[in-house]
Amino acid sequence: MRRHLPRMMACLTVGGWLVCAVPALSAESSEHSAMPFHTILETEQTARLLAILLDSGRAVVNDNQTLLDDPSRAEKGFTPEVFERQLLDMFRGRAGIDLQDIETITLPQRSKRLLKELVGVSKGVIEESQREVNRQGTGFKGFIPAVFGSRVATRFTAKTGVRLKQTALTPRNPANRPDLYEQTALEAFADSAYPREKVISEMASNSSALRLMFPLYATRHCLDCHGGPKGSLDRTGYPREGLVLGQSAGAISVLLPVTK
Ligand code: HEC
Repeated sequence: MRRHLPRMMACLTVGGWLVCAVPALSAESSEHSAMPFHTILETEQTARLLAILLDSGRAVVNDNQTLLDDPSRAEKGFTPEVFERQLLDMFRGRAGIDLQDIETITLPQRSKRLLKELVGVSKGVIEESQREVNRQGTGFKGFIPAVFGSRVATRFTAKTGVRLKQTALTPRNPANRPDLYEQTALEAFADSAYPREKVISEMASNSSALRLMFPLYATRHCLDCHGGPKGSLDRTGYPREGLVLGQSAGAISVLLPVTK
């Protein structure tokens, strides 16, 4: 019987609260979800903050795209320190948390450790991109938010075991193809009736890991490449998706093992 029970418990954040849809027959499966509710909330908060931090790094790269693509200058001054300042500003504006004061803020230790690690990994990716972005005489160098995001995600996962991934329903990069869980969330985000910016998360019924999907929306910057006319090639050589301003544009997927 038990193997027919739902493996995951579906949770949804509403107004900042995690609301979990108790699966059918949950009384029988309750031995799997022995985790205290506040631990689930903390884990969900950590996953959400990691998604916001990765997306903030993407947004900072996006804000500097014209500078990065300037063929007339070599040194761009987009150093890891400059990037970090902009990243922390962006994150403070979006999450209301100042990572500069991380030791004084009330967050679980693990959350602090992972956020600091993600800042470090993001700076490392900027550090390693210096030669690439400081090349003179070339305009577009291919260093874009998605490339930054993939490099950061891969390194962060290797270091921490926490999986971060950028995904979309029709991904350009096959490595970003959604799995079934991600696809279901992306389809929910794509529904125009779905509440804006509400993450979708679920805790494995054996409490081993939390999954979270953080929705992304098309800003004017994104439309340059992902906008219209649909099918026409953007400057990265991919056909445009035909997205319009504000439309759902994919998600950041987080898989956070609970024991790490
Ligand atoms: C300069 C062009 C460009 C801009 C601007 C841009 N993207 Fe992309 N985007 C790409 C490319 C190219 C890829 C595939 C990168 C790769 O090969 O991994 C991509 C990948 C993605 C992915 C991962 C899924 C996939 O298709 O592989 C998401 C999600 C995404 N972009 C969302 C956005 C959003 C949201 C914005 C605006 C904030 C944006 N992009 C801005 C070119 C762009």
